[in-house]
Amino acid sequence: MKLNRRDFVRLAAMTVFTQPVLAALPSVGEVRRFRLELRPEQRNWIPESEIPVELWGLSDSLLTFRQGEPVEIEVVNLLPEPTTLHWHGLRIENAMDGVSGLTQEPIPPGGTFTYRFTPEDAGTFWAHSHHKTYEQLARGLYLPLVVEEKIASDTDQDILMVIDDWRVNNEGQLDSESLGSIHEWAHGGRLGNFLTINKEVQPSFTVKAGSRVRLRLLNTANARIFAVDLPEVPAWILAKDGQPLANLMQVTETVVMAPAERYDLILDIPRDAEGQLSVTMPTDRAPIEMAYLQVEGLHESERVHSPDPLPANPIEEIPPDQIPDHKLVLDMTGGAMGSMTQAVYNGQQMSMQELIQHRQIWAFNGVANRPLDPLLEARSGELVEIEIINNTGWAHGMHLHGHHFKADLARYNPDLWHDTLLMDSGESARIRFIAGKPGSWLLHCHMIEHQAAGMVSWIKVIG
Ligand code: C2O
Ligand code: CU
Repeated sequence: MKLNRRDFVRLAAMTVFTQPVLAALPSVGEVRRFRLELRPEQRNWIPESEIPVELWGLSDSLLTFRQGEPVEIEVVNLLPEPTTLHWHGLRIENAMDGVSGLTQEPIPPGGTFTYRFTPEDAGTFWAHSHHKTYEQLARGLYLPLVVEEKIASDTDQDILMVIDDWRVNNEGQLDSESLGSIHEWAHGGRLGNFLTINKEVQPSFTVKAGSRVRLRLLNTANARIFAVDLPEVPAWILAKDGQPLANLMQVTETVVMAPAERYDLILDIPRDAEGQLSVTMPTDRAPIEMAYLQVEGLHESERVHSPDPLPANPIEEIPPDQIPDHKLVLDMTGGAMGSMTQAVYNGQQMSMQELIQHRQIWAFNGVANRPLDPLLEARSGELVEIEIINNTGWAHGMHLHGHHFKADLARYNPDLWHDTLLMDSGESARIRFIAGKPGSWLLHCHMIEHQAAGMVSWIKVIG
């Protein structure tokens, strides 16, 4: 059985989206406690195949924290491999960042690790494996994470769409043979052939005509850049990567998202809307339907005002004319059709051929993979500017752990904060951020195969 787009669309009618139920443990004092099991899970994506697809997942399908409220998450590893959980986008203590081999040892099969932190920012985030990520993310080991504002946003409904692509083989199972394909690592990374929203096929969400919907989009793919076309209704960008915009931006075009990027949007469903509104992915041919908003009923009161911004998170603004304390150029090289001929790996200068033997194909400033020494060392509170130059033939999604930054790329409104930035081939961007909590913070490409094959370094913040 070969899956094509027609099958994919035909299968849609068979699925339902179920609202996740969150297992909160009784609170101890002020701390809210959670227990998360990482374990194999099955999904019935392909009704004709008798066998469900085997993935890795977590015992919940959504985590909800409250801004400023301490949490304790007991993570139990019931998988056959060691793992960790990284809290992507949260500005928390470095020891809780969940990076295997850097901030913690991986949690062995059968083992437990308790993460403790207080989310200071409200917004849309996610948790995902940060150990052998190219495999574990492809198997589905991630979880969307919503940190609620202290004062709820003035919306009638909250809809989350976690966009992912999977590589499904002719048996209707996850194609695990191609995991680690060096060809893909040298090109655009692992691209799937099967699309899901919230690990379901084309889910439908009921909305009322005349209501104001908060739509949270999150791209959890290993490597695919998703383009998303919203239904033709008034829409605004409320927040990016968890950080609210002071002035909402109207959405007038396709929303493009690198892996790990998030957008919080407002959709005003017109009072005369009816039937099915589609969220689609434009392609060279017909657009692919990703999910539906099914309009049913009418919202009681009429909304006459355009939406208000969210309250700002406690993140320090960066005056545009402030002189950076540290300036650095980050030169990205490598990949197929690139001109990289050598790089340092594990402290040794290697030819391209030797690098490939070590599965390394990309480099930052001539170093493949995480070097012993950081790219730079900064004190908490200092302003850092990194000029990132994409000297490769490929797009990349650059992610900095534990920080949000501003960027001067024309693609983005300069007021947006990012923890992940989409950079096209040949583009350069200056990113600016204030060094945050002390510790070792990764800077890497979130096209996870690129990270595995060399595109990862780190910065050190000292108190
Ligand atoms: Cu979303 Cu280093 O990760
Ligand atoms: Cu990349």
